[in-house]
Amino acid sequence: MSALWMPFTANRAFAASPRILAEAEGIFYRDTAGREILDAVAGLWCVNAGHGRQEIADAVSRQLLTLDYAPAFQMGNPYTVAAAERLTDILPDGIDTVFFTNSGSESVDTALKIARAYHAARGEPQRNRLVGRNRGYHGVNFGGLSVGGIARNKEQFGPLLAEVDHLVDTHDPERNLYSRGQPEFGAERADDLLRLIEAHGANSIAAVIVEPVAGSTGVLIPPKAYLERLRAICSAHGILLIFDEVITGFGRLGAPFAAQRYGVTPDLMTMAKGLTNGVVPMGAVVMAGSIRDAIFAGAPDGIELFHGYTYSGHPVAAAAMLATLDIYEREQLFAHAAAIAPYWADTLHALRGEPHVIDIRTDGLVAGIELEPGPRGPGTRGFAIFEDCFARGLLTRVTGDILALSPPLIVERGHIDRAAETLRAALRAAD
Ligand SMILES: Cc1ncc(COP(=O)(O)O)c(C=O)c1O
Repeated sequence: MSALWMPFTANRAFAASPRILAEAEGIFYRDTAGREILDAVAGLWCVNAGHGRQEIADAVSRQLLTLDYAPAFQMGNPYTVAAAERLTDILPDGIDTVFFTNSGSESVDTALKIARAYHAARGEPQRNRLVGRNRGYHGVNFGGLSVGGIARNKEQFGPLLAEVDHLVDTHDPERNLYSRGQPEFGAERADDLLRLIEAHGANSIAAVIVEPVAGSTGVLIPPKAYLERLRAICSAHGILLIFDEVITGFGRLGAPFAAQRYGVTPDLMTMAKGLTNGVVPMGAVVMAGSIRDAIFAGAPDGIELFHGYTYSGHPVAAAAMLATLDIYEREQLFAHAAAIAPYWADTLHALRGEPHVIDIRTDGLVAGIELEPGPRGPGTRGFAIFEDCFARGLLTRVTGDILALSPPLIVERGHIDRAAETLRAALRAAD
């Protein structure tokens, strides 16, 4: 392990006791010993159509031998054009413009820059302030880190963007424990934006960015009417609303995006992960055409936006994306996620009352299981259960003392039962 420095990993502990995945098919990984591991997190919230999809492999292989790379700047190709067009088929009404990136982090920083460029183009360059939310995760680049609300992710890196504020988070354990679907209480937390408007003036705020479901912090589902209220306040004050749909996109909640699931349309959305089933890096920012039009109008000649990546809309990623969206559609995976979600919720909520469990939150094919911190300090019990689950053949994700689950959308009842039984055994064995 000495050459490889792994991201977001306790490298020294990992090297002493590694977990190595060697193969994957359907909903299972295999380790180097050939042991089957049920993937209850779709890799890292991304392999929504399941592993080892032949159609995607074929499309990528064909693309590599047809047009392996084309410059993203000042040159076009039919595959990237088709990918943008195809993506709009599943976007909320009114969102019809696509800017490609390569990851969630890049999508977030791109969206924040587009928001500022939009206001500047419309003659409001003072609208600089970017508003995130406590406990939010928007990737690791400087913009996303600035609007993000997880302190530990920022501590090592010095000053971030200055013109940034954070809303209060949506977690209300006093009133919303063991929620299924959207929690009842907490819509008024959106009014925290009014506090920032009061403090800074609405005309200093460019955009608000939130994850519709906060994933990385441990699955916080938006309370009923919260997103509607945030939408209304943004609209009333000319503030752009950005949904970071990097994990909520592509059927995770039983609809193409959280925007449709919750019936609230933002101005911009960021996405990645499930866009290509996780198999080739690709991200996108999508938006109402009026945002692009305003930026174009503000730049009568030449390049309209001084931003982009060498691999924006990479033809191979575009091919992977087109094949992925075909699978989602042909197999009706978003509808399958919606149909099996009640069983998912029933089975996981049945873990209520098991040792250490203090909350369970579910919506669509997402679950957060919160544990009481163990005697060795915060996070240790969660990590021990994550390790034990892996040893028992179940891949979960842990953040602090919260286990997060988000299986591939091809999941069936038997897999859900097996995941829950493994979790139950690990909870009972944990100290
Ligand atoms: C909501 C959200 N935004 C952004 C990101 C960052 O994506 P990436 O790791 O592809 O940069 C993630 C990653 O998990 C995420 O969950």
